[in-house]
Amino acid sequence: MSEADHGATLATYAEALRLQIDSALAEYCNLAPGCPAKLREAISYSLLAPGKRLRPMLVLLAAEACGGEVPGAMPAACAVEMVHAYSLIHDDLPAMDDDDLRRGRPTCHKVFGEALAILAGDALLALAFQVLARDVRPPATAAACCAALAEAAGPCQLVGGQADDILAQRASQARNACDLALLESIHRRKTGAMIRVSLRLGAMIAGAGDGQFDALDRYGQCVGLAFQITDDLLDVQSTSDELGKAAGKDAARGKLTYPSLLGQQQSAQRAAALVAEACQAVECFGPRAQPLVALARYVLARKR
Ligand code: IPE
Ligand code: IPE
Ligand code: MG
Ligand code: MG
Ligand code: MG
Repeated sequence: MSEADHGATLATYAEALRLQIDSALAEYCNLAPGCPAKLREAISYSLLAPGKRLRPMLVLLAAEACGGEVPGAMPAACAVEMVHAYSLIHDDLPAMDDDDLRRGRPTCHKVFGEALAILAGDALLALAFQVLARDVRPPATAAACCAALAEAAGPCQLVGGQADDILAQRASQARNACDLALLESIHRRKTGAMIRVSLRLGAMIAGAGDGQFDALDRYGQCVGLAFQITDDLLDVQSTSDELGKAAGKDAARGKLTYPSLLGQQQSAQRAAALVAEACQAVECFGPRAQPLVALARYVLARKR
């Protein structure tokens, strides 16, 4: 098979997975009658909006790389996307990044108001753990998945990174060398942790051996950081239309970002080196690593 044919096959496969993820997410939006209609609407509005589904895809591909199957990993894939969707709703709030556009649509708080947006985020976070605890089998694996996701979403990872992201905002652009360590730490926590845990959950559900687990974990760490570096670059290089979210706002807000500290060229080099390291980490899986390699390259080449 030619390289182009092979790439097309992988893209078709990723698209098929994305459709399965979307239908599982829609299923989880059929909430019990106790959920007020407006809240259900706000939850579905954000969760089912056309995101890339990168994190759930990583859960499924990690499980498959270790010999697991898609259905067994789907609840964890959905749980990760629920936490991600909650983090986006809260990230966009006026008290945080104050954004009006997300996934090509008005942000949750613009449509439903701040109170309902906050509550939709709260609900998605709780729902994620309900899904993991109830639908992952066996129960010991479900408990381990809950612990891993709670750590990634918690005060020392996602939420801690978001707090430092806000605290590091400055009116003045004057930066110094110490900022690079802080910046990397923010990006590894606010974004990297959820990507890293996606791989870990897939591996845990598939019963990965230590070697497989460590390889996927290294891949997750590299792709996680590369993903946020690319996000910073896209904010500078792209348009709101292309991104489906506001472009050019990081500098205006005085965000600590890779391009603001290292410049665009060096930032792109750093992201590329991380993706190369990620691809190398999963070589031990042989041909089964191909979808993960393709996804890592996509993280670098993506336009939105
Ligand atoms: C956006 O994540 C937030 C960041 C961590 C940079 P994605 O770029 O994966 O957003 P969606 O899910 O595709 O909308
Ligand atoms: C967001 O980083 C990370 C999380 C949502 C946890 P950004 O603030 O850069 O994400 P975008 O650019 O709004 O998607
Ligand atoms: Mg933010
Ligand atoms: Mg933001
Ligand atoms: Mg951004």
